[in-house]
Amino acid sequence: MIPLSDADKPKFVASRRAVDFVEDGMRVGLGTGSTAAWMVRCLGRRVREEGLKIAGVPTSTRTAELARKVGIAVVTLEDAGWLDLTIDGADEFDRDLTLIKGGGGAHLQEKIVATASDRMIVIADPAKDVARLGAFPLPVEVIPFGWQATQKLVQRLLAGMDVDGRTATLRMAGDTPFRTDEGNYVLDLHLGRIGAPRDLALHLNQIAGVVENGLFMDICDTVVVGHADGTVRLI
Ligand code: 5RP
Repeated sequence: MIPLSDADKPKFVASRRAVDFVEDGMRVGLGTGSTAAWMVRCLGRRVREEGLKIAGVPTSTRTAELARKVGIAVVTLEDAGWLDLTIDGADEFDRDLTLIKGGGGAHLQEKIVATASDRMIVIADPAKDVARLGAFPLPVEVIPFGWQATQKLVQRLLAGMDVDGRTATLRMAGDTPFRTDEGNYVLDLHLGRIGAPRDLALHLNQIAGVVENGLFMDICDTVVVGHADGTVRLI
């Protein structure tokens, strides 16, 4: 086992516990991000050491690569049809288990996969647990065509929303816009505080150039919080 940094310990602890929910024969959605990467490694270990038979549906090209590397059979969502369980990370979660996701720019596939699952388990370190969502910038995937007009419409919408900050910045990867696996751009909404997440999510998705926002509502069933001392808290 690779030596764990202080930042990785809670992620590993949450992941190790969460993969206990995976049973033989399950079709499992595999999330994206540094926490989900630990979960994929833990699941791969169960496949190799216990002979666990599962089909994994990755939510990004990088998760697909890691899953294959650790021995998980990778299938498409189309082939799997429906999933028993999805395990993924989050950027923030609140007491209603509403999430902000998309820090890694994969929230579109993540939302499709999670909503095509009987159950979604989120794995997190304690820092992701917030009283109110919004300190983490809310990712919104947008179509590149006319993205500046979409940005203006998003900012106009924010002017009438219950939020503290109102800027929407284009996510960059070096000198060029960051591209999602679908080839789209991401606007990061610096809101500080989101007073009415449901209202915001519904209005954002009505803007023509918006593909999907990173608010996950009524999707997550359980959060597994890992602590550096090896303990876990199930919410
Ligand atoms: C990727 C995501 C990730 O789950 C989220 O950004 C958390 O990442 P990490 O585990 O690295 O903190 O939504 O789109």
